[in-house]
Amino acid sequence: MHSFRPTVLLTALAASCGLVQAQCPSVWTDVAAELKTTFIDSSGNCNDDARAAIRLAFHDCFPGACDGSVILADECTDRGENTQMIGICSTLGTMASNFTVGTADLIQFAAAFGIASCPGLPSIAVKVGRTDSSTANAAGQMPGANDNATSIVAAFAAKGFTSTELVALVGAHSAAKDLNGNGLDSTIDDLDTNFYTETAAGTAPASLNSDISMSNSSETKADWNTFGADASSWADAFVPAMEKLSLLGNDASSLTDCTSVITAAFA
Ligand code: HEM
Ligand SMILES: *[C@@H]1O[C@H](CO)[C@@H](O)[C@H](O)[C@H]1NC(C)=O
Ligand SMILES: *[C@@H]1O[C@H](CO)[C@@H](O)[C@H](O)[C@H]1NC(C)=O
Ligand SMILES: *[C@@H]1O[C@H](CO)[C@@H](O)[C@H](O)[C@H]1NC(C)=O
Repeated sequence: MHSFRPTVLLTALAASCGLVQAQCPSVWTDVAAELKTTFIDSSGNCNDDARAAIRLAFHDCFPGACDGSVILADECTDRGENTQMIGICSTLGTMASNFTVGTADLIQFAAAFGIASCPGLPSIAVKVGRTDSSTANAAGQMPGANDNATSIVAAFAAKGFTSTELVALVGAHSAAKDLNGNGLDSTIDDLDTNFYTETAAGTAPASLNSDISMSNSSETKADWNTFGADASSWADAFVPAMEKLSLLGNDASSLTDCTSVITAAFA
């Protein structure tokens, strides 16, 4: 005889009628606890692992889909644009095995967690349920630090992003360091708008030529100055653009929302 499980039945019925969302699997609460000790240093600031995780989300998604291939197909070790992230690729690859979660999901979850760890922005929504792939994406698709605004705008347009979304996303460099450890703005632990104003004024400790070009090109300059002058306009543009990036190549309607796990970890 079948055991009758009314809760399961009702949950399934409600879900199929669109009444409730699937619950975020509880393992993500354990992942969040480990990321908290991994990303936040003893003085409460976000650390280099948090910065690298934010960047890794971009590098996994942009060449094709957010599919974990940056780790699973060794794009991290094989491609020059990723070698600064070998450490975080290794950490997150091991963590995905330890917790038995998807690699693509963990990369995006870790980026959202990194964004929550470096103060300045509201939480971004994060979903899980992506399909992992160990097939490498075509090489040569990442924009480079010496590319100009025109070519970066075109590269983002080819992936479905407007120049405004591009300028908003690159504000993640507000929490970035260069190879010498210098910040791309003076407030490296914060996701704030000093990156925009200091890059445009030439007063940042270090700047990428790509960012200087975007601060000063007719295609991107207006958005650059708007975000530099108004933190809430940057947040309003960054959050949906980062959420869009985190879903590239995936069907969002089939994914499960785990945003509450991140907000709970910082409550
Ligand atoms: C638009 C074109 C972009 C270019 C050319 C670019 C290039 C770079 C480069 C070269 C670095 C390393 C800094 C150095 O070694 O001097 C870097 C760091 C970083 N990038 Fe980008 N990036 C771009 C867009 C983005 C986007 C869209 C995001 C995230 C949404 C992002 C997030 C980061 C972060 C967080 C770091 C810091 C990593 C760390 O300090 O370990 N970047 N980027
Ligand atoms: C993975 O699990 C092993 C064995 O428990 C542990 O030593 C290691 O620190 C874990 N690594 C990560 C990144 O969670
Ligand atoms: C931008 O870079 C592209 C590709 O390298 C080049 O063809 C173009 O002339 C550059 N444009 C400007 C304004 O420098
Ligand atoms: C910005 O662009 C203008 C016009 O192309 C140029 O004269 C100026 O030198 C540039 N400034 C910087 C900081 O690159």
